[in-house]
Amino acid sequence: MIESSEKHEGFAYSRARWDWASSADHAYWITGTSSVDHFDRSGWADACNLATLCPGYRDQTILEWGSGSGRVTQYLCRMFRRTHAVDISSGMLGLLAQRGFPDLSLHHTDGAELPPGIAVDVVYSYICWMHNRKEDLPAIMRACRAVLKPTGKLVFQLPVYDEPRSPRTFIDTACWTPREFLELAEETGFAVTRMTASVGAFAPESMGANHFDLHEWRPRPCASSNHDANGRPASI
Ligand SMILES: C[S@@+](CC[C@H](N)C(=O)[O-])C[C@H]1O[C@@H](n2cnc3c(N)ncnc32)[C@H](O)[C@@H]1O
Repeated sequence: MIESSEKHEGFAYSRARWDWASSADHAYWITGTSSVDHFDRSGWADACNLATLCPGYRDQTILEWGSGSGRVTQYLCRMFRRTHAVDISSGMLGLLAQRGFPDLSLHHTDGAELPPGIAVDVVYSYICWMHNRKEDLPAIMRACRAVLKPTGKLVFQLPVYDEPRSPRTFIDTACWTPREFLELAEETGFAVTRMTASVGAFAPESMGANHFDLHEWRPRPCASSNHDANGRPASI
């Protein structure tokens, strides 16, 4: 349920609304249908799509940012060596915990921070950050940069269109122009290695051809890296 007076007010607002969605019909709010079959099948398709970009996944560690109730996570934790699932909603994480998946650690975030001591090969995020306000993304990207091994990569979905757009509610869509997207990578310490964009402006009834595509960013080397040459956090 979205109140007509609703306005996106950042992480605390997102947490409250996604917690509500987790106790309502989580499959509907995540996929647009209540079908559990669709929830599982679409999650499998998205996990396979990610695997094509991560050829060494069996030996790798992954962090999924905005896992929700585990639509994709349920497969990631069986494909990757170790999986960290992060979400702003404790309700969503509770649904995931109930299912008792193997080799999976769950972490609650305030929206832009991660627990210390994690180093991963892949950070993955799908249909999550498009629901955040644009001004909240730099802090998230810097947190991703801090947990990625120097050889690691960030693989994620974020709608890029010719026309910019800001989300009005927790379920609404932010759109980034190519220039905004490249500037975000630059200011948060990444090199863009894969990016796709849709033509024109976003419209709910006719989404751009590349709306759900995965981008790929690599950490740019920097003198004050948080990891040693073996990819371990410098603090450990
Ligand atoms: C549309 S659901 C997608 C869930 C999952 N990624 C999937 O593809 O099925 C969005 C999820 O992102 C979470 N979320 C939104 N903003 C977040 C943030 N800044 N940090 C962590 N989780 C966030 C919400 O709680 C919700 O579980």
